[in-house]
Amino acid sequence: MGDNPASQVYVRNKIKACADTSIQSFEYRLPAQTTEAELLALIDRLNRDDSVDGILVQLPVPRHISEARIIAAIAPEKDADGFHPINVGNLVVGRPGFLPCTPYGVMKMIDSTGYDLTGKRAVVVGRSNIVGKPQALLLLRRNATVTVAHSRTENLAEVTREADVLIAAVGRAKLIKADMIKPGALVIDVGMNRDENGKLCGDVDTAAAMEVAGWISPVPGGVGPMTIAMLLTNTVEAVERRLA
Ligand code: GUN
Repeated sequence: MGDNPASQVYVRNKIKACADTSIQSFEYRLPAQTTEAELLALIDRLNRDDSVDGILVQLPVPRHISEARIIAAIAPEKDADGFHPINVGNLVVGRPGFLPCTPYGVMKMIDSTGYDLTGKRAVVVGRSNIVGKPQALLLLRRNATVTVAHSRTENLAEVTREADVLIAAVGRAKLIKADMIKPGALVIDVGMNRDENGKLCGDVDTAAAMEVAGWISPVPGGVGPMTIAMLLTNTVEAVERRLA
């Protein structure tokens, strides 16, 4: 909905990824003044459409729309983003459900290194519903000792320096400096910011952090493509569950 420039880029990338993998996708580009009732009616139609397996509403939605009501209106079994309260609840209690794409992708990246999270100190900086909170739950599920820090945390550097695994998802350009990272730590940057020159950058000061970290996932190029890959994974899983 509307004309958020970042959303337009994300949606374009998602449509392209679907085309590349032979998933049929349909884009509904709604004007900013669309009413909540109209958006809910569209979601209801797609919920009932047997030819549709996955639905996502690109966020943010304009201020006159309740994000919570929109997310709750999506059929949980078609919730490719994993944002519906039923799927969030399943994540909390450790039951199967759809996982939010970005934290799911971060777990896949960590797994690709062969890193064993059991007993390790993990620090997530950021507490959003889309990344920080589900990320903390996924790390906990894998037996890490998890701390959630955020923009109001006192002595943030002291907290982050404890981290064997540091996930930065707070949305502050280059907040995490080299001296806030434990030597050898696994660092994953989920930030999407613009620096003082308008260049895309993450929450980590990557060039400096590389000297200290053992593993680092940079921005641009790290987590973004993983988010889209997990969106496709969730969509295929929705099909498999429907056919099961
Ligand atoms: N806005 C920012 N990230 C996301 C995402 O993963 N899914 C949706 N639907 N909107 C977003």
